Amino acid sequence: MTHSAQPSPLEARSSGPLAGKVRVPGDKSISHRALILGALSVGETRISGLLEGEDVLNTAKAMRALGAQVERTGEFAWSIRGVGVGGFAQPQVPLDFGNSGTGCRLVMGAVAGCPITAIFDGDASLRTRPMRRVLDPLELMGARVRAGGESGRLPLTLNGACDPLPILYRTPVASAQIKSAVLLAGLAAPGATTVIETEASRDHTELMLKHFGAQIVSTREGPHGRRITLTGQPELHGAEVVVPADPSSAAFPIVAALIVQGSDIVLSDVMTNPLRTGLMTTLREMGAAIEASERRGDAGEPMAQIRVRASKLRGVEVPPERAPSMIDEYLVLAVAAAFAEGPTIMRGLQELRVKESDRLEATAAMLRVNGVRVEIAGNDLIVEGRGHVPGNGLVATHMDHRIAMSALVMGLASDQPVKVDDTSFIATSFPDFIPMMRGLGAAFG
Ligand code: S3P
Repeated sequence: MTHSAQPSPLEARSSGPLAGKVRVPGDKSISHRALILGALSVGETRISGLLEGEDVLNTAKAMRALGAQVERTGEFAWSIRGVGVGGFAQPQVPLDFGNSGTGCRLVMGAVAGCPITAIFDGDASLRTRPMRRVLDPLELMGARVRAGGESGRLPLTLNGACDPLPILYRTPVASAQIKSAVLLAGLAAPGATTVIETEASRDHTELMLKHFGAQIVSTREGPHGRRITLTGQPELHGAEVVVPADPSSAAFPIVAALIVQGSDIVLSDVMTNPLRTGLMTTLREMGAAIEASERRGDAGEPMAQIRVRASKLRGVEVPPERAPSMIDEYLVLAVAAAFAEGPTIMRGLQELRVKESDRLEATAAMLRVNGVRVEIAGNDLIVEGRGHVPGNGLVATHMDHRIAMSALVMGLASDQPVKVDDTSFIATSFPDFIPMMRGLGAAFG
């Protein structure tokens, strides 16, 4: 499903206290992985709580094109009958991942281990994003890229390997997408495929592979890294997957409740995997009143109920090694930082430059146009918090859902309204964002 909506602008205005209890949609990372592993398994996989956003629906469509039976059985409930490891069929249509780097890169890995040819494509944003970082290890495993050029940009044609080779690979950047692509290709290779990362990235692929029956071992490597070894050619069997609520989506109501005076909200079933909780750690350091209760776990993924109350925030320094655990949250953290007292220094943000947009530049632009002082120093972002935000700016969203949601959150507490040029990309990850926030008391429109 390629994004086709017309630009749809929206304004956020100063709101009364936010209140209520909501469940944000299912985790995007886990939703993609559940569909892909379901498609690579034998037997039925039942998923509940799937994120039905455009990014994930594009992955579902790709799994169908690759031969899996994928059915929606109810609200957020899906059933998949897979083809087994290495069993993908030749797709008859190009695989279009729309706005989604995760869907595209993970499926490249899964296809690389199968003797088929597939065309990968995406929207204008995805066509600018680097694919070499995933194609390099997949070529070492025997896959061939037949188009796409040196830069490896989409659209490109990937020939999967007839006899994929297991490799030992050190990821050049902390990226769960690169790690996952190698592991998914390694499923079809004989023997051990090992990925070493110097900074641990989200481990949902590892946890879910185990849940589907693969043998996979993860050990510490150096102070912040991991060494992950997968035994190839397992028989994956269909499994039940309950998708917890997405902490990266929860980030928006959390920051909104912190900055809108008098707010008190509760978010249920939020995934609290420690490799995803960098934002909560940082916000607590800033003085945020965030409490987690009712902790429980499913398929190795912990979750909790989160209560957030409006808080007086102070600026902090965020260390670079925290980046992988909050890589998608810096935009909305920058909004919180603008309402804090004192500077917030966020270090080591180079990976933000290759997301759905150049998020380092886009974050600075979003704040500047609303009267916040902000500086980019190398790969660091420094936001001068002054306890309030003037607002009255028009924010360019650059086909990036998280810019749109961050700017709208900022407008709920700024002195003057904040306008965004296009909210349509919010549908990629959080289709109900606008009504859900309105339900909590947000003044949009
Ligand atoms: C994701 C990994 C991250 C993140 C993305 C989802 C995943 O990307 O930004 O939104 O599900 O593996 P990188 O692994 O490239 O940092």
